Amino acid sequence: MQPTPGKPRVFSGIQPSGGLHLGNYLGAIRNWVRDQDRYDNIFCIVDLHAITLPQDPTALRENTLDLAAIYLASGIKQDQAMFIQSQVAAHAELAWIFQCFTPVGWLERMTQFRDRTARQGRERIGAGILTYPSLMAADIMLYDTRYVPVGEDQRQHIEYTRDLGQRINQRFGEILVIPEALIQKAGAEIKGLDDPEKKMSKSLAADAPGHAIFMLDAPDVIRKKLARAQTDAEPAVRFPAGAGVRNLLEIYRTIKDKDWPAVEQEFAGKPYSVLKSTVADAVIEALTPIQERYREIRSDDAALMLQLHRTADRLAPIANSTLRRVQHAVGLR
Ligand code: TYM
Repeated sequence: MQPTPGKPRVFSGIQPSGGLHLGNYLGAIRNWVRDQDRYDNIFCIVDLHAITLPQDPTALRENTLDLAAIYLASGIKQDQAMFIQSQVAAHAELAWIFQCFTPVGWLERMTQFRDRTARQGRERIGAGILTYPSLMAADIMLYDTRYVPVGEDQRQHIEYTRDLGQRINQRFGEILVIPEALIQKAGAEIKGLDDPEKKMSKSLAADAPGHAIFMLDAPDVIRKKLARAQTDAEPAVRFPAGAGVRNLLEIYRTIKDKDWPAVEQEFAGKPYSVLKSTVADAVIEALTPIQERYREIRSDDAALMLQLHRTADRLAPIANSTLRRVQHAVGLR
């Protein structure tokens, strides 16, 4: 399959499973916004992925609208395609076919599956955690996607998507476009403020309030969280810096679009209090306008819902045509 001429297709998505954190913003959304004019974009709210873990139904509906509002508030333009995954049935249908063509060993080796089973045990997690990458591969390949802009933690899922696509193409002919991950050098792996060895994540934030800054956190909360962020035992910033200081500098340089030599020069010898308050200023400056627009957008949920429905209706024929192609190739039609 050759991609259609014109701007290359981009597809990416985020789970509506609770507050978005700074990692989601710096690793994904901010890059989508910056590069949106270069691509033909589809931004998805992946609610089918969210239910791989227990969700309160009312909260899931709210989080879905919240996420749509945050996409727009962050600067995704109104004319870009933004939709809810479960509103296009082809995602679940293609995912089933993909699961049938995926060796179980590939799925069992996924870091996300291994982490979850290590933490909770195999009896306590749903099978969706295992088959999750097949749904993600369906999301991506349904739209003949060329590029998938994500953070570092999604690299393995995209590798799987490529492997699966190649396997299917080898067997049935060139029916799928093989996508590539777009992972930026800056901001692709923001770490927890309380533990800079671990990736900033929603699930860790649930147990440790100081772990993550959320996109909708008030300025005083952001300041407090950063003031308590883990650094090291040095009295002031020195290089090479420890993991905690490096993480704060990574947040800063990503927001400010600065390279490492520039931030090293800016902060060398400065006390940690100065580093933390400067990073807090930068984060607050980036998030405050987003929070204001978010509140405006959420004040008209009907308009937001209508936009999401209309986009799903517009995308469904594209998704269905890929689904039919695969169904036909494997003998289902
Ligand atoms: P999710 O919802 O966990 O995360 C959404 C995006 O945020 C990025 N991200 C981070 N980036 C930097 N530092 C961090 N600490 C950090 N934490 C998260 C993720 O890399 C991601 O880009 N499986 C996906 C959702 C998905 C998807 C797709 C993505 C479903 N279908 C198709 C792309 C294409 C996920 O759970 O992302």
